[in-house]
Amino acid sequence: MIVNFAMSVDGKIALPTRKQTRISDEEDLRRVHQLRATCDAVLVGVGTILADNPKLTVKPEYATGRNPLRVVLDSEGRTPEDAEVLNRAAPTLVVTTVDCTKTFPNAQVARLGKDSVDLRALLDYLGENGIKRLLVEGGEEVLWSFLHERLADEVKVFVGSMVIGGRTSPTAAGGSGAQTLEEIAHLKLESAKPLGTGVLLEYRVVR
Ligand SMILES: NC(=O)c1ccc[n+]([C@@H]2O[C@H](COP(=O)([O-])OP(=O)(O)OC[C@H]3O[C@@H](n4cnc5c(N)ncnc54)[C@H](OP(=O)(O)O)[C@@H]3O)[C@@H](O)[C@H]2O)c1
Repeated sequence: MIVNFAMSVDGKIALPTRKQTRISDEEDLRRVHQLRATCDAVLVGVGTILADNPKLTVKPEYATGRNPLRVVLDSEGRTPEDAEVLNRAAPTLVVTTVDCTKTFPNAQVARLGKDSVDLRALLDYLGENGIKRLLVEGGEEVLWSFLHERLADEVKVFVGSMVIGGRTSPTAAGGSGAQTLEEIAHLKLESAKPLGTGVLLEYRVVR
C-alpha cells in the first residue's frame, strides 16, 4: 500500500484554515494521476472530502487509464450527498462504523469498526473484493493512522518549494502523534530527486 501527499518545505499540507492550496505543480500532478491509474483504489478521510471536495478520478490531461475505486473513511456518514466523490465518474465505497445507518447516492457502504473505521478490517474487506493496490492520499488524520498502524509499505512525498507556516495548518501526519519513541514511524529513504519546481522523496516503511 502506498501513501502519497504533497507538503510545503515546512511540512504543511494545506492553509491554516484547512483550505486546500496548490502545492503540487503540473509535473507532480501528472505523477499523481499516473500513480492513481496504476492503483485499484484511492482513499481519503471525510475531512478531506469536507475541506477539498475532490473528485479522486484520473484526469485525462495528465494520465490515461481507468479510475480506481474511491474509498472514503467516514465513521458517521458526514459525506454530503452532492460531494464530487459521489458523482458517477467512478465507483465509490464509503466506509462507516457499524452503528451508522447512512446510505449515499452512487456509493456502496461498508460498516467496519466501533469508534472509527477499523483499518485492518477494511484492508481485509478490500482484499476480498480484489483491491490489492491501495493509494492513501490524506488528509493528516488518515496519513497518521496508516503510518502509525504500520499499514503502509511506501511513502511518496512531493515537497513543494514554498513555506505555508501557521500553528493550525494541517501537517503531513496529525492524529495524536507518537506518544512514545516506539510509536514513531521510521522510513528508509529510497530516492530523492528534483521534480518540476520541487522534490520527490520516496521511502519504504521500516517494520
Ligand atoms: N497536500 C496533500 O497532499 C493533501 C491531501 C489530502 C488532504 N489534504 C488536506 O488535509 C486536510 C484534511 O485533513 P483531516 O485530518 O481534516 O482529514 P482526513 O484525514 O481526510 O479525514 C479524517 C477523518 O476521517 C475519519 N476517519 C474514520 N476512520 C478513521 C481512521 N481509522 N483513521 C483516521 N481517520 C478516520 C475521521 O472522521 P469521522 O470521525 O467523522 O469518521 C477523521 O476525522 C485538508 O486541509 C486538506 O486540504 C492535503
